[in-house]
Amino acid sequence: MSWHPHLWHPTTQVATSEPPLRAVRGRGALLELDDGRQLIDAISSWWVTLHGHAEPTIAAAVASQVTELEQVIFANFSHPQAEQLATSLSAASGLERLFFSDDGSTAVEVALKIAWQWWRNRGEDRPQWIAFDGAYHGDTFGAMAMGERSLFSAPFDPLLCPVARAPWPSTWWHDPLVAEKEEAALQALESLLERPTAAVILEPLVQGASGMAMVRPGFLQAVEQRVRQAGALLIADEVMTGFGRTGALFACRKAGIRPDLVALSKGLTGGFLPMGVTLASEQLYQGFISGDPTHTFFHGHSFTANPLGCAAANASLALLAGAPERYAGFEARHRPHLEALAADPRVERPRLCGTIAAFDLKVADPGYLNRSGRVLQRLALERGVFIRPLGQVVYLLPPLCLTDDQLAHCYGVIQEGLAAL
Ligand SMILES: Cc1ncc(COP(=O)(O)O)c(C=O)c1O
Repeated sequence: MSWHPHLWHPTTQVATSEPPLRAVRGRGALLELDDGRQLIDAISSWWVTLHGHAEPTIAAAVASQVTELEQVIFANFSHPQAEQLATSLSAASGLERLFFSDDGSTAVEVALKIAWQWWRNRGEDRPQWIAFDGAYHGDTFGAMAMGERSLFSAPFDPLLCPVARAPWPSTWWHDPLVAEKEEAALQALESLLERPTAAVILEPLVQGASGMAMVRPGFLQAVEQRVRQAGALLIADEVMTGFGRTGALFACRKAGIRPDLVALSKGLTGGFLPMGVTLASEQLYQGFISGDPTHTFFHGHSFTANPLGCAAANASLALLAGAPERYAGFEARHRPHLEALAADPRVERPRLCGTIAAFDLKVADPGYLNRSGRVLQRLALERGVFIRPLGQVVYLLPPLCLTDDQLAHCYGVIQEGLAAL
């Protein structure tokens, strides 16, 4: 393993990191390295590989689309794959309009820009954004501004627009303080909403990057109610939680909330191709229809609605629709393993939502730079499992094709790693 002379890897400090592993093949839950080793990809390659690597029906759909229409300018053209995807996602989400972009960050940017300009088109001044403590919405400027100010954003903080922040009452098994935390968060939100607010943005049910921080559905329903009372818009960032990850097709459905805008990416194409979409209500869409050209939504990316991405997404949605039990039933598969782990004295805050299982390692100095997770990562790698803890937060977010034996192996490796820590 060595560093390539011409590559620059994301979120990687070369001075203190191991060189990357070299992947040459992916099949199902397994990644194969150039030295022949096989690893279980227990985090779906940054939460994108939904059904498994090289899933054959998605691969076939992309291959067939490649020879039909690989790309077309979407400002002047439409195409069948985009239309099919828009129809399916609209039916599944209840939001009528779909705007394409390239990834999770741009899906969030688009949601923010639609929300902001919608108010402007109406001639209303609503200068405040509200987001939650611990939020992560992407690495572009608007998305970064919505995210919690952190190690990641620090060099850019002076450039980020102001965002008001409410507490995120994250919880775990047997958390005695959850109701108190929720009440305090709602009170804080209510007082923030006294200022005219364009939109409130949240990651429904699970904040991913901040450490799989989970909240209860009832809290999100109470948030929605406060947002509605204040007349603000609600944006759900389902970039990580979408497409079955929380046990329902969309976390918003599971939580019982109906946002005005939803950002999607990652699992959208089954993890095959980069693509983002922003779903919007018809009411928002209508706010841009006008004889006044300044009311136009002037936003577009070169690869908007790329037909290959759309073909992959349509094939992925068909797989989800054909076997909903694969995501709906995953939580029950995790549960006995996580219960066993939770008995370990080095484990705290076990939590579970659909396909996502997480816990914290008990450490004195929690945070992204805490090394305990890295040590566990190395131990797991030696036993053929790829995990990528967030500081002291260890989690599994595997592809849906993971077998029972593979799942048991992941937990066994973590258990042994705990003993060796
Ligand atoms: C909730 C959420 N929003 C947005 C993003 C950004 O997505 P991308 O990395 O595709 O730009 C992420 C990425 O992890 C995410 O988890």
